[in-house]
Amino acid sequence: MTEIKAPKKLIEVALPLDDINIAAAREKSIRHGHPSTLHLWWARRPLAAARAVIFAQMVNDPGYERSLQRGVNKKDAGKERERLFEIIRQLVLWENTNNETVLNEAREEIWKSWRETCTLNKNHPRAAELFNPEKLPAFHDPFAGGGSLPLEAQRLGLESYASDLNPVAVLINKAMIEIPSKFAGRKPVGPIPKGVRQTRMTEDWSGAKGLAEDVRRYGHWMREEAQKRIGHLYPKVEITTGDLRPRVFSCE
Ligand SMILES: C[S@@+](CC[C@H](N)C(=O)[O-])C[C@H]1O[C@@H](n2cnc3c(N)ncnc32)[C@H](O)[C@@H]1O
Repeated sequence: MTEIKAPKKLIEVALPLDDINIAAAREKSIRHGHPSTLHLWWARRPLAAARAVIFAQMVNDPGYERSLQRGVNKKDAGKERERLFEIIRQLVLWENTNNETVLNEAREEIWKSWRETCTLNKNHPRAAELFNPEKLPAFHDPFAGGGSLPLEAQRLGLESYASDLNPVAVLINKAMIEIPSKFAGRKPVGPIPKGVRQTRMTEDWSGAKGLAEDVRRYGHWMREEAQKRIGHLYPKVEITTGDLRPRVFSCE
């Protein structure tokens, strides 16, 4: 049996833990745009930590050649490791979650490490199947729970699969990973609410923006329909800015 040459991964050697911890703790107070607002999940993993560990599992440690008896300059390996840490420090920031420049830098590192691994294993009898330098290995979390890991694997450019015993977890993962990727970059198709300006042809519908707009449009449509059909069964209320408790002013 031909031995597989598996370079040591960055996560096996070192991680900028303080930076990851700070970003993960900070993320807890972020509500707007965070998947935690999609549906309650009691053991949600921070996206920052998930992103950092997947990156560090995919990237070869700069001193990896040591484990393959090729010899490496320790000082250069340390410098290179620090460069990778800096990528992680940027990667874990909530503000950079959709920053394509930062994400692309991380994705390129993952590709670089994968190609290195493929080169090391090019003489393996199953190299064409297992070590294709044009195809990254896919990611599967069989106990995906709240889906932080498959979501971040997808963000880092991996084909991502999630499964779980719990149907709530499956629903969260479908809504977060499967459906948005199917509609990525598509324009919204829902009915534009009355009184709202028509969207311009040049509108940016990258990522899940079109899908999000459709959720808003159909949500608005459903609310209007509900109002038309059963609205008369409910009392009218006035919501004031100072006091969020509704005041009933008509009960007809
Ligand atoms: C610790 S949580 C998942 C953590 C997850 N990786 C995350 O980052 O949020 C464990 C999950 O495993 C699921 N689970 C437990 N036993 C399972 C089984 N036999 N098959 C599939 N999923 C299972 C549970 O429903 C739960 O969502």
